[in-house]
Amino acid sequence: MKTRAAVLRDVGKDFEITELDLDEPKTGEILVRFVASGLCHSDDHLRTGDIPVRYPIVGGHEGAGVVEQVGEGVTRLAPGDHVVASFLPVCGHCRFCARGQTNLCDLGMFLLDNCLPDGTFRLHSGGEDFGQMCLLGTFSQYGVLSEHSVVKVDNDLPLEVVALVGCGVPTGFGTAVKAGEVQPGDTTVIYGIGGVGINEVQGAAFAGARNIIAVDPVESKREIAKRFGATHAAATAADAQELAQQLSNGVGADQALITVGVATEDVITAAFNAIRKRGTVVITSIGGPGKKTIQLPSFELTLFEKRLQGALFGSSNPFDDIPRMLDLYKAGKLKLDELITTRYKLDEVNQGYEDMLAGRNIRGVIIHEH
Ligand SMILES: NC(=O)c1ccc[n+]([C@@H]2O[C@H](COP(=O)([O-])OP(=O)(O)OC[C@H]3O[C@@H](n4cnc5c(N)ncnc54)[C@H](O)[C@@H]3O)[C@@H](O)[C@H]2O)c1
Ligand SMILES: [Zn+2]
Ligand SMILES: [Zn+2]
Repeated sequence: MKTRAAVLRDVGKDFEITELDLDEPKTGEILVRFVASGLCHSDDHLRTGDIPVRYPIVGGHEGAGVVEQVGEGVTRLAPGDHVVASFLPVCGHCRFCARGQTNLCDLGMFLLDNCLPDGTFRLHSGGEDFGQMCLLGTFSQYGVLSEHSVVKVDNDLPLEVVALVGCGVPTGFGTAVKAGEVQPGDTTVIYGIGGVGINEVQGAAFAGARNIIAVDPVESKREIAKRFGATHAAATAADAQELAQQLSNGVGADQALITVGVATEDVITAAFNAIRKRGTVVITSIGGPGKKTIQLPSFELTLFEKRLQGALFGSSNPFDDIPRMLDLYKAGKLKLDELITTRYKLDEVNQGYEDMLAGRNIRGVIIHEH
């Protein structure tokens, strides 16, 4: 069949909308009609080269849709099922899955080539194979996905909000609750209030943080953060550090969580300076693979036992935490509808990223046409 998709052909190029040939699902795969896809900052890293992938590639890794067809051996899913794509595939059997660290599943080794787990591609044009961002490629009307990447959801949930629990929501929530281990009464600083950071605010509030300091140069972001549970806001890291000191009687923040658009030495240093003894910096933002974005005095790390923690998918487990996020939403305890700032057509994907980079969106979402 044919599908229209937003494709990146090389570093530095914008998305190009093109028609591709899509193969039938093979064993263990399903055909999904994507309904909605969030515009996460990580797809922009494919454009800048901060995530080094094989090109050409179909963008998008935060999507939800409806199963149209299942390949051989798929028993867990059936046509008509509503699903959300997990940006990390989970095999269930590798050493990391067996330990319950499914975000670190060995299938992650395909995240740079972005073929399916059998090593081949389902999207083609003019004799060329097209990869799928995070093995998904949700900026396509249709996709063939491994069942390892697909979480079934209730059919009565709006798919545009379901899409957001594929990446930004559990990544942010887990950065605060799991990787950052926010405890009741904590003081938490959050750098970068985008689609991920806003969910750190929700997560920290949920875990009972007493002070949540949202840091973003964009004023509207600071205002929105307050609606999601931030108690304070700061335009600069220096102001945030001063606030954290004041609010903790000079002790410092318990956590500093980093979700700025691109990880930099400046923000990591600021976060390190803002935390207390035995406090934790969590780095969820991505910086380019060759860049030395961490330059810190080990003296302080050792004597104050400060901790630096990376977090992938908020150190969460997709098949456990994605349904949990939706259960909290259904119970009225997690805001998802309010995360969507602007809806776009697939053809407007570059405008969507322009808006994201200009700080106009919490989350932009593509609504697919069929
Ligand atoms: N580790 C993971 O599993 C994972 C998953 C998803 C996204 N990410 C990464 O998380 C980061 C954030 O993604 P997003 O989609 O929320 O991005 P976004 O562009 O929506 O939000 C980034 C925010 O950071 C703010 N910002 C920029 N510089 C800042 C600074 N110096 N101080 C404070 N705020 C600053 C921007 O104004 C913006 O509001 C990206 O690097 C993305 O690739 C990581
Ligand atoms: Zn993402
Ligand atoms: Zn695994």
